[in-house]
Amino acid sequence: MKVLGIESSCDETAAAVVEDGRTVLSDVVSSQVEEHKIYGGVVPEIASRRHTEAICGVVQKALADAGCTFTDIDAIAVTYAPGLIGALLVGVNYAKGVALSTGIPLVPVHHLRGHIAANYVCSPELEPPFLALVVSGGHTHLVNVTGYTTFEVLGKTRDDAAGESLDKVARTLGLPYPGGLNLDKIAADGDPNAYRFPHPHVTGSEYDFSFSGLKTFAVNLVHNAEQKGETVDTADLGASYLKAVTDILVGHTISAAKATGAKKIVLAGGVSANSVLRRRMNEECEKRHISLYMPLLRYCGDNAVMIASQGYYEYLNGKRADLTLNAAATMPIEEN
Ligand code: KG4
Ligand code: ZN
Repeated sequence: MKVLGIESSCDETAAAVVEDGRTVLSDVVSSQVEEHKIYGGVVPEIASRRHTEAICGVVQKALADAGCTFTDIDAIAVTYAPGLIGALLVGVNYAKGVALSTGIPLVPVHHLRGHIAANYVCSPELEPPFLALVVSGGHTHLVNVTGYTTFEVLGKTRDDAAGESLDKVARTLGLPYPGGLNLDKIAADGDPNAYRFPHPHVTGSEYDFSFSGLKTFAVNLVHNAEQKGETVDTADLGASYLKAVTDILVGHTISAAKATGAKKIVLAGGVSANSVLRRRMNEECEKRHISLYMPLLRYCGDNAVMIASQGYYEYLNGKRADLTLNAAATMPIEEN
């Protein structure tokens, strides 16, 4: 079964054709990063306008690369939540237009479910149940994935997402957008023990996260140094901050694995591309004989392959949308 995936929740316009949820026939991503770079972050209205310009060409290329036309497509999977509302609406409306004109079934896909599904493409043997750490620009979730379309959130961030905090600290250090990626690069030359950060705990909820205080601690450290005419070592501070964030992410995930008896851990989302997180998680999983699954780097960030993959499983589960489908800026991952 061939599913056409469409993704437009943030600053990538993407389309892909995936067969039976696992085999990539095409994968097209048009990134707006260069345009948003001058503003230091994504400007929602610009994102919507660029999606509108790009979407027809991106979908046509995805079909052509897969050697398909719409007549070969069995379902259209589109990201409908969560994300930037104006950006999501472009993909949703485009998909509805195609569904209306071709009669192809329309399947709405939750963006974070899609991030998790990137692992089905990269690891063909992977099947639920497993424990997933979903770390993106807007979300930090520890999820018990009980089935392809059933999710139980064990913990999530109470304030900033991990990616958001990395982006803010990177910006304070003068690094260009996308901050997390550039922080990862410069941290490779830094000493992760040069600066000490507090280890925040969320009272009453063992698996929830809080990155706002940690981020403010780092930003204040930089500003205080500037006020005293001192300089901070960017690589050292970046490496120390990454260590602090990844210690929390890895610590919570391993504790949850112990408590639930999970033998499989899955990383997902843009921050799962982080080299420190991948290395640390790998070390901890090896020690405990837990199998670790991580997407290839190209499938960590936003793409449509992951949407087509999850769309396949949603389709099998009977999920369909009619032409009243709307986008939503927020939506719990458990909601069906
Ligand atoms: O999943 P994603 O592409 O978009 C959202 O759904 O939010 O995640 C984007 C986030 C950004 O915060 C970006 O800085 C971060 O992923 N990111 C990284 C790396 N590559 C992207 N963070 C740390 N290390 C990286 N190598
Ligand atoms: Zn994403």
